[in-house]
Amino acid sequence: MKQKVQITIDGKTIDLDVLEASEGNNVVDVRGLISEGIFTFDPGFLSTASCESKITYIDGDNGVLMYRGYPIEQLASNSNHLEVCYLLLNGELPTSDQYQAFEASIKEKQFIDKNFQNIFNGFTQGAHPMSMVGAAVSGLASLYHEETDIANADDRMTTAHRLIAMIPTLAAMAYKHGRGESFVEPDPSLGYAENFLNMCFGETGKPSAVSKTIADAMDRIFILHADHEQNASTSTVRMAGSTECNPYAAISAGISALWGPSHGGANEAVLTMLQEIGDVSRVGEYVKKAKDKDDPFKLMGFGHRVYKNFDPRATVMEESCKAVLAELGVEDEPLLQIANALEKIAREDEYFIERKLYPNIDFYSGITLKAVGIPTELFTVIFTLGRMPGWITHWNEMLSAPYKIARPRQLYLGEHKRDFVAMSDRG
Ligand code: CMC
Repeated sequence: MKQKVQITIDGKTIDLDVLEASEGNNVVDVRGLISEGIFTFDPGFLSTASCESKITYIDGDNGVLMYRGYPIEQLASNSNHLEVCYLLLNGELPTSDQYQAFEASIKEKQFIDKNFQNIFNGFTQGAHPMSMVGAAVSGLASLYHEETDIANADDRMTTAHRLIAMIPTLAAMAYKHGRGESFVEPDPSLGYAENFLNMCFGETGKPSAVSKTIADAMDRIFILHADHEQNASTSTVRMAGSTECNPYAAISAGISALWGPSHGGANEAVLTMLQEIGDVSRVGEYVKKAKDKDDPFKLMGFGHRVYKNFDPRATVMEESCKAVLAELGVEDEPLLQIANALEKIAREDEYFIERKLYPNIDFYSGITLKAVGIPTELFTVIFTLGRMPGWITHWNEMLSAPYKIARPRQLYLGEHKRDFVAMSDRG
């Protein structure tokens, strides 16, 4: 029998349906409340489901993350990022023919219009690459606006392929511009992660010198970041997309939301924090700061809105991180020693245990990226690259079914009506 919830307001009882989830929490359908003149209040969406979705499932209490039903651990061990992109976009793992066709489509779309590349010249050399990447992705709208009909499923899929194909090229261009170096063209003979690394660290005309260990670690990082249901940046993409704006603009909005240190910017913030700590002997002092309510400092790379036991991406990333460090022989690097000490103290501290604050993916991805020699300013760009299939799949899912413009309400606490006072009469 269908579950119902009743609420009574001013003596009137209202029945609300409970919608059943295929996994996890059912939700109370409050849509009918508006006709009763009632709004719900949930700042930060702590207990609000903003949409229906069939893409990704998270069980935060038990540390479960699945893309289209496949556990993240299995995908990280057996798949590659392009296959995961296909899975997210299409709902099923590809056959060999489907994979080849998808890969060919991505490789053919990696190149960026020569004239458009001038967009980077508008940025100073020291500009943060996230700023450049956000602007460049938004700028792609200028190239494809006329040929993108968001009501057309084929156009939406072409957009998805373009964005997955172009984001590594744009990210590498932003990085190269920041360093005053010339761009390296995409190389379709290379794998997705290797091509990205070669465009960042290679030179035009020279064969790729990217090590397999590093390319594999990068591909894994992309898989682990590929989607995370209704997080802040994905919700931003859905919200912007619900206005029916150009998809490149909607994705660019998501990139902006990702940049913050509470979200994708945390991987960069982890490194900045470790550098600021500077020495193992100061770890205790920083843990104390993080616990001090009068100090806004937080331990970067710890805690998560949804995971209250462990972050399954962090478990996979930790494994990958240790393997990479061992292979590179850099386990003794001072920054890594600080990270280890910090993790140990925080895991044993009552404050962190009580609040269920565990190292999240950004803690280990930051350390791994640093160990393989990726400059800190590129960390969040790498998250952006990984998250692209998730954003575009959510945008496509939203537009494939009836949707409404996202338009939250508010609890108004401002002034009551009052009359304008001329400036000469103001106290
Ligand atoms: N260091 C110290 N205290 C913390 C931390 C932290 N990193 N995170 C949460 N707390 C405390 C917080 O002060 C609060 O304490 P109290 O109950 O005494 O007021 C309690 O833990 C609950 O925290 P919250 O702020 O209500 O939790 P939230 O769900 O709103 O925020 C978060 C989640 C990820 C924004 C937050 O934990 C944080 O800022 N962490 C550091 C930044 C970070 O690593 N972000 C990456 C998240 S994973 C990547 C991604 O998916 O975006």
